[in-house]
Amino acid sequence: SDAYSLLILPGDGIGPEVMAEVVKVIDWFQANRGMSFDVAHGLVGGASYDAHGTPLTDETMARAQAVDAVLLGAVGGPKYDVLDFSVKPERGLLRLRKEMDLFANLRPAQCFDALADFSSLKREVVAGLDILIVRELTSGVYFGEPRGIHSDDNNPDNEGGRVGINTQRYTSGEIRRVARSAFELARKRGNKVCSMEKANVMESGILWREEVQWVHDNEYPDVELSHMYADNGAMQLVRAPRQFDVIVTDNLFGDILSDAAAMLTGSLGMLPSASLGAPMTNGRPKALYEPVHGSAPDIAGQGKANPIACILSFAMALRYSFNEGEAAETLERAVEKVLADGVRTADLMGPEGGTPVSTSQMGDRIIAALES
Ligand code: NAD
Ligand code: IPM
Ligand code: MN
Repeated sequence: SDAYSLLILPGDGIGPEVMAEVVKVIDWFQANRGMSFDVAHGLVGGASYDAHGTPLTDETMARAQAVDAVLLGAVGGPKYDVLDFSVKPERGLLRLRKEMDLFANLRPAQCFDALADFSSLKREVVAGLDILIVRELTSGVYFGEPRGIHSDDNNPDNEGGRVGINTQRYTSGEIRRVARSAFELARKRGNKVCSMEKANVMESGILWREEVQWVHDNEYPDVELSHMYADNGAMQLVRAPRQFDVIVTDNLFGDILSDAAAMLTGSLGMLPSASLGAPMTNGRPKALYEPVHGSAPDIAGQGKANPIACILSFAMALRYSFNEGEAAETLERAVEKVLADGVRTADLMGPEGGTPVSTSQMGDRIIAALES
């Protein structure tokens, strides 16, 4: 059949709450836009640990490899903080990213006009903001060897006697492929890429800079490329974020810089992401879509979570996995309309007020906006 296959992994905390709103949106597109989705559900993170003693079963891993797109809510929570590192909820997500080889994590940060006054920065700094962070997702210090916590017994000067090790490691090939993703995406936007590393203190940063420049000079000379140290990049992101179009950076810097970029838009509850691999034989990339935020244990189970990041992640699935760009825009416009109407989950509630809504009411309002 020509149904699109989806594996939904709601995960932990607010993950299931925000994912329930995405399911409403999927149902709406099936009922009203002639699309057909073959939807399966599974467990990841703490939810999978509770059921199976592992944050991701081999069976769920295999299903993730086989579908057109995976939709993930969020993983983790205080209940699981005491677990052995190897079975922590976050390991399930990292295994999905690694084994599906999802090396390019697209994290757009767009400031909706209705929220410009709600950003922690001034309206005139963020109005119209539209940047895209491309974060390398399958390598770097998240995965480099050696790693671990070891005893440091031979070092009498080390109080406590232990050492914790992680390794920042990048191959030229890993850098080139994510650089290509960034340049390709830039050509469809503002045609500008800023690459961020710390080439002033890290050899892997020197390699990063050289390889990004190589890809530029040999394959994308038409795209404007600049390089910036990541610490300056963090400062520039809050000083004058609109100077950027596409930012390409490594796994750890990308994690941190994208959380910072989130607040430019008003709330972490607004930021979607797409994690993409290389195109397969059918021309589509392996793909996983997830909000940038986590399981938000402080608000879980209270109907307070903003489902927009998760809903906009589904819009990215429509665009990048299913080539349904028009449907993606329809959904994004519905979100924009609801925000313009002053509909606000708690995280978006500022002094200027608005209509306070719960997670599921926000989903319903977005469906109503799709109808109109
Ligand atoms: P978090 O993103 O879960 O929460 C940070 C803050 O933002 C909290 O105050 C939370 O209430 C708020 N927030 C987040 N999403 C929101 C939403 N949709 N609506 C309203 N408010 C929202 O980060 P954290 O507290 O550092 O981490 C909590 C757990 O989530 C940890 O176990 C962490 O490892 C995990 N985590 C998972 C992912 C993921 O699954 N992709 C991402 C980040 C953190
Ligand atoms: C994210 C999260 C993850 C990361 C964790 C939960 C593994 O913070 O997706 O941004 O660090 O990549
Ligand atoms: Mn993060």
